[in-house]
Amino acid sequence: MKVLVIGSNGQLGRSLQVALPSTYPDSLFFDRSTLDLQNTQAIQPCLRVAQPDVVINASAYTAVDQAEQERELAEVINHHAVARIADFCSGANIPLIHVSTDYVFDGSQRRPYQPTDLPNPASAYGASKLAGEQAIQASGCEHIIVRTAWVFSAYGQNFLKTMIRLGGERDELSIVSDQIGCPTHAGDLAHALIAALEPIKQQTSSSGVYHYAGDRPVSWFEFADAIFARAAAHGLKVPARLSAIPSNEYPTPAPRPAWSVLDSSKFAAAFGAAASNWQQGIDQCLAALKQPLQ
Ligand SMILES: NC(=O)c1ccc[n+]([C@@H]2O[C@H](COP(=O)([O-])OP(=O)(O)OC[C@H]3O[C@@H](n4cnc5c(N)ncnc54)[C@H](OP(=O)(O)O)[C@@H]3O)[C@@H](O)[C@H]2O)c1
Repeated sequence: MKVLVIGSNGQLGRSLQVALPSTYPDSLFFDRSTLDLQNTQAIQPCLRVAQPDVVINASAYTAVDQAEQERELAEVINHHAVARIADFCSGANIPLIHVSTDYVFDGSQRRPYQPTDLPNPASAYGASKLAGEQAIQASGCEHIIVRTAWVFSAYGQNFLKTMIRLGGERDELSIVSDQIGCPTHAGDLAHALIAALEPIKQQTSSSGVYHYAGDRPVSWFEFADAIFARAAAHGLKVPARLSAIPSNEYPTPAPRPAWSVLDSSKFAAAFGAAASNWQQGIDQCLAALKQPLQ
């Protein structure tokens, strides 16, 4: 089965580059240099030449705050380009695995979000991602939409890497403690998507919306605390003092949901992949980040 990954240079894309080829050696990986999604007219001709059996879309405009100023660009990448990809998959009669976000929810709920809960994005990024989901559903293609959250890895930009950098620079850090979510190790997410390929290989339909995220909800403060506990064990410098602050003491251009806990049980039941063990993920990332220093 020829699996085509779009957005192969991101956190998820790079994790798929590591995990996918052993099971699917014919996989193809397209980054921005092979397929620039901003050029929406070029998407379908490019996919036609590639002739995939299934597409995984790991690309996205992910600059949540910048999206408030760059709404049009976020819409192009997260909505219009996704619509083109979905239309191609529909026409070619091949499935699309697409990754979306917890930020499609407004965070007003106090129980874990199910895939059937009503989205109501509070940010331009969240709105553009929801529009992408809806375009896929409207295209009629076979699809697995996987909403994830708080993705971290040894690659690119993410909260864990920011904490490690700031921990090395400062003795004191203040971290928001009133936003609760589920950190997700990109490596676990990659393996979860590979598990979702199995029914596709068996030609059984699993079309729908799923959640796949970390197995234990925490605040950003608790996540930072867990990162520094493990960083200290790995011999890295950590701040002497970590303070918990409310969101209003750390204002951002895009509002964040106060509660974006995703329930991953539908995904586990359908594809057999347990929710991300993000505590193990922290250790794996720290080990990977230390490697160039050794
Ligand atoms: N990161 C999170 O915390 C988080 C949370 C919830 C959901 N998600 C979702 O999870 C998925 C994977 O996220 P991630 O963390 O792996 O994101 P990421 O590291 O930001 O990677 C996104 C990738 O999309 C590519 N991309 C952006 N614009 C493009 C364009 N015009 N043409 C081609 N490629 C383009 C980027 O290319 P370049 O490398 O060239 O810039 C990048 O490689 C996304 O759907 C995201 O919305 C992420």
